[in-house]
Amino acid sequence: MTVNQLYNDCLLRLKNSGNDDYRFDCDCLFEHFIGFDKVKRITKGEFPVSDKACKELSDAVDRRTQGEPLQYILGKWSFMGCDFFVGSGVLIPRPETEMLVLRADEIIRENKLSTVFDLCAGTGAIGLSIARLNPDCRVYMFEKYDGAFYYLQKNVGAFGLENVTALKCDITDFNASGLPKADLIVSNPPYIKKSEIKLLQKEVLREPVTALSAGEDGLDFYRAIRSKWLSLLKDNGTVLLECGDGQSSDVIACFDGVIKSSAVYYDFNNIDRAVEINV
Ligand SMILES: C[S@@+](CC[C@H](N)C(=O)[O-])C[C@H]1O[C@@H](n2cnc3c(N)ncnc32)[C@H](O)[C@@H]1O
Repeated sequence: MTVNQLYNDCLLRLKNSGNDDYRFDCDCLFEHFIGFDKVKRITKGEFPVSDKACKELSDAVDRRTQGEPLQYILGKWSFMGCDFFVGSGVLIPRPETEMLVLRADEIIRENKLSTVFDLCAGTGAIGLSIARLNPDCRVYMFEKYDGAFYYLQKNVGAFGLENVTALKCDITDFNASGLPKADLIVSNPPYIKKSEIKLLQKEVLREPVTALSAGEDGLDFYRAIRSKWLSLLKDNGTVLLECGDGQSSDVIACFDGVIKSSAVYYDFNNIDRAVEINV
């Protein structure tokens, strides 16, 4: 089969499966499994493709037509300009979370901070990005679940940074002895209400529910951070938290009584995405 024939065949299969992004997905899969980007595909469209490569791509297209996220099939996804290993068992890093990293980076640089905790670390997208941008800062990343911790360790290995530590623990029930206090706690915790989980897109439900679900009102993890982690924050420390659409005032309310100042960060669609609390 030629490059052109194979590409057109895959494009049609993805389109017929009802995939709205079929062209983007086809381009990504083609580049990953066949090694031909758009330019190479157009200029060398008559090249033959081996049976083995055809089969690998065809299996990948099957997985995609059955609703597996593209990122899991590719096995990696870009966040803050770097590739992170991803797969079944870990949340795929979202572009909106980059806002949290950029704000954390500003706070660290302005105040020359030395110690950051990333709670509910998943792939390590937040913690590893902060550590990469701030080599003088030590970043501790905390993750409970085996599936996610596997990818966290894999990404820690791939980044090869000296200033990171990955710890497997439940952030709601954690013994912090031996850890230094943090200047900044960052977290993108689970924040979806239990009743809303079943309303999520089918594809999002391929991601672990333990990365998404946060009790009846979606605030369980913010309350846990307030009750368990503020004693591990230095005086005048900062907590920077991602939140869901419309959740920022409830998140701030979880910290009632300890707040010196707070701020909410909105994305381009005016959706509240992050809350900063100085305690
Ligand atoms: C919304 S995901 C965020 C992952 C990553 N920080 C990111 O932004 O891509 C939440 C993460 O919290 C982890 N998690 C859930 N409950 C936890 C707990 N009790 N202790 C530690 N981690 C937990 C999940 O496994 C998941 O990796």
